[in-house]
Amino acid sequence: MLTELARQVGLALHNVQLDSALQASLEELQQANVDLQESRRRIVTAGDAERRRLERNLHDGAQQHLVAMAVKLRIAEDMIEDEPKEAIDVINELRSDLKDAIAELRALAHGIYPPLLSSGGLAEALPNAASRAALPTTVETTGVGRFDAEIESTVYFCCLEAMQNAGKHAGADAEIVVSVERDEDRLTFEVRDDGAGFDAGPAAARGHGFVNMADRLGTIGGRLTVSSTLGAGTTIRGEIPLP
Ligand SMILES: Nc1ncnc2c1ncn2[C@@H]1O[C@H](COP(=O)(O)OP(=O)(O)OP(=O)(O)O)[C@@H](O)[C@H]1O
Ligand SMILES: [Mg+2]
Repeated sequence: MLTELARQVGLALHNVQLDSALQASLEELQQANVDLQESRRRIVTAGDAERRRLERNLHDGAQQHLVAMAVKLRIAEDMIEDEPKEAIDVINELRSDLKDAIAELRALAHGIYPPLLSSGGLAEALPNAASRAALPTTVETTGVGRFDAEIESTVYFCCLEAMQNAGKHAGADAEIVVSVERDEDRLTFEVRDDGAGFDAGPAAARGHGFVNMADRLGTIGGRLTVSSTLGAGTTIRGEIPLP
C-alpha cells in the first residue's frame, strides 16, 4: 500500500511540476502575443501618421502652389494688353510652376488618408475608390453606417488593396464586386472578382499587399480569409468583431 501511495504521490508531484512548466509556457506565450499585437499596432499607427503627414503636405504644399499660380495667372491676364512681353515671362514662369506642382502631386499621390473617408465613411469613400478602379466595380454598402476611424481605414485600405490586386492580377475581363455588411457583433467586407484566380494555399507566396491586410486586421482583432480558384476568381474576406 505504501509503495502504491509513494507511486501516486510521485505522480502527483510530477504533474504539479508539469503544470507549472505548462503554466510558464502559457505565460510566455501570452506575453509574446501581447508584444506581437503591440508591434502590429505600432506599424499601423506609423502608417496612419505617415498618411496624415502626406495629407498636411498636400494641403500646405501643392495646394498653396496652385493658389499662387492662380494669382500669377491673373497678373499675366492684366498685363497681356499693355505689357505683352512681361506677360509672356510670367506665363513661362507659370509653366515651370505647373511642372513643379505636377511633380509634387505625383510624389504625394500615394497613400493619402482620404478626406472622403473621414467625412462620409465607407459608404461614400468605397464607391469613390471604385470609380477609379482599373476594372468595372460594383459596391454594396447598404445600411453600413459609421465606425471608429481605425476600423473604417482598415476596411477601406484592405478593399483598396484587394481592388488593386484584382486590377493587377485578375486579367482585363474580370469584374469586381465589393460588399460591406454589418450585423450585431461584426463587420464583414468582401472583395470578389471573377478573374484568373491563383493558388491561395497556405504555402502560397504572399506579397506586401496580403501581409499589410492581415496586419491591419490583426491590430483590431479581425481576420483575413483569402480564397481563390484558378480560372474562376478570387474572394478576399475580412471579419472585424464589433464591441
Ligand atoms: N485578385 C487576384 N487575382 C489573381 N491573383 C491574385 C489576386 N490577388 C492576389 N493575387 C496573387 O497573390 C499574390 C500576392 O498578392 P499581394 O497583394 O500580397 O502582392 P502583390 O500584389 O504581388 O504586390 P504588392 O501588393 O506588394 O504590390 C499576387 O502576386 C498574385 O499572384
Ligand atoms: Mg497587391
